[in-house]
Amino acid sequence: MAAKIIDGKALSKKLREQIKKDAEALKSKGINPSLSVIIVGEDPASKTYVKNKRLACEEVGIKSDVYELPESTTSEELLSLVEKLNADESVHGILVQLPLPGHLDEKVVIENIRIDKDVDAFHPQNVGRIMIGDFDFLPCTPAGVMEIIDEAGVEVKGKECVVVGRSNIVGKPQAMLLLHRHGTVTICHSRTKDLKEVTRRAEILVAAVGKAKMITADMVRPGAVVIDVGMNRDENGKLCGDVDFENVKEVASVITPVPGGVGPLTITMLLKNTIKAAELRLSGKA
Ligand code: GUN
Repeated sequence: MAAKIIDGKALSKKLREQIKKDAEALKSKGINPSLSVIIVGEDPASKTYVKNKRLACEEVGIKSDVYELPESTTSEELLSLVEKLNADESVHGILVQLPLPGHLDEKVVIENIRIDKDVDAFHPQNVGRIMIGDFDFLPCTPAGVMEIIDEAGVEVKGKECVVVGRSNIVGKPQAMLLLHRHGTVTICHSRTKDLKEVTRRAEILVAAVGKAKMITADMVRPGAVVIDVGMNRDENGKLCGDVDFENVKEVASVITPVPGGVGPLTITMLLKNTIKAAELRLSGKA
């Protein structure tokens, strides 16, 4: 039987309706939720992401300010803007679009974002809080994956969960979120000896590697829930995920497509974090 295909766009729309209400509720209490986005340089993919973030903010009634800085921006200039936004009481969320040009140190920039405005949840202190399960901001992509798992009505407790990919942004925090839900979690990566042997154990399989269609049907346990975080181009230049969707959908019970699966949720989770940042301000915790 072919898998249930999750419509990330529809789920995102539903969640954004609630976020819009949350934004209105904040406004009625005198807080105008706002997100500042900084982009340095001319990377076309980054520009598209930032534009989509701005449009998403508009859609739900979050104020957004985009700072487009030239490629030649110095570390001092960038840090001085971050500092200004840190101090600005009307700014609730700050996001520096990555990657930054090579002469800028991403680590230093992230460490200088105020932790209660760090809506990406990239600051080491926020990463640590995710580890211990005591956090304000969820990392956007893994949080989107959890929304999909919930929407599909899948219980994580006691399940074999396999995350393929160990990035700081997706793989590692994803494993933590599944662990918080009492999954039995394995993280695989490029040095994993017998990848197929591990992925075939997965009742919930999350692919976050960045390699087009690398998860093939023979690597998937029949009936598994397969979540594809990849965003790649195939041999014809067409957008595709890390999962060989056409074949895997015949084996899995639930699957996310690319595009239209996890992608739309990621920005929605950013909106949710921005609302959270504004709520922290309202409650006096920020
Ligand atoms: N570049 C690609 N994905 C992301 C993200 O989630 N946040 C930021 N800041 N930059 C990115």
